[in-house]
Amino acid sequence: MTDHFKEKAQEWDQKEGSKERAAAITKAIKERISFDSDSILMDFGAGTGLLSKPFVPKVKKIIAVDTSEAMLDQLREKPIFQDKLETVSRNIVTDPLDVKVDIVISSMSMHHVKNVDGLIGQFARLLASGGQIALADLDKEDGSFHDEGTEGVHHHGFDRAELQSLLEKHGFKDIKFTTVYTMTNDDGKEFPIFLLTAAKK
Ligand SMILES: C[S@@+](CC[C@H](N)C(=O)[O-])C[C@H]1O[C@@H](n2cnc3c(N)ncnc32)[C@H](O)[C@@H]1O
Repeated sequence: MTDHFKEKAQEWDQKEGSKERAAAITKAIKERISFDSDSILMDFGAGTGLLSKPFVPKVKKIIAVDTSEAMLDQLREKPIFQDKLETVSRNIVTDPLDVKVDIVISSMSMHHVKNVDGLIGQFARLLASGGQIALADLDKEDGSFHDEGTEGVHHHGFDRAELQSLLEKHGFKDIKFTTVYTMTNDDGKEFPIFLLTAAKK
């Protein structure tokens, strides 16, 4: 499996906007998702752990799923995760996991997954009834968010109505979208990021 984030991993946390974006998404998740000390939290496309780090004290266990070993290496080095961490480095759509989780969070990773229908299906399978998801990603864009030729990008953002239908199809309810952050590129072009929250029926 090609690691498209190998070169980016070491500098990821210092990249302009990475921490600010994660902080804005984290704040919105805290407002909309309930956690307890027995919760098992999965961070899909966890990367270096920028999104899941603030949730460590709130949950029992973090399962960090990412196909990039280089990104997971950065996450594993963060002492706060030590006692609560399980890392999974594989494509969970084609090679499903055999665990149950209470909450799935994700930031900016779904657009790297070819089969999003299959991915949402896997989230539904892993969550118990009442389980919650909080997924952040780009709204539909014209393809200019990534530099031309960037590998491993399968979607130019997402249409909210299409994503909502997909979630309904896989048995999610209480589906809500809000804009939680806006990224701006060097040309001043804006790219809104939504947070989608829902619960498994
Ligand atoms: C843009 S980064 C976001 C990282 C982190 N969530 C954040 O917000 O800082 C996307 C991450 O998704 C991971 N990724 C891409 N395709 C994946 C897949 N099929 N399964 C799991 N992770 C994947 C990449 O390796 C990368 O770490």
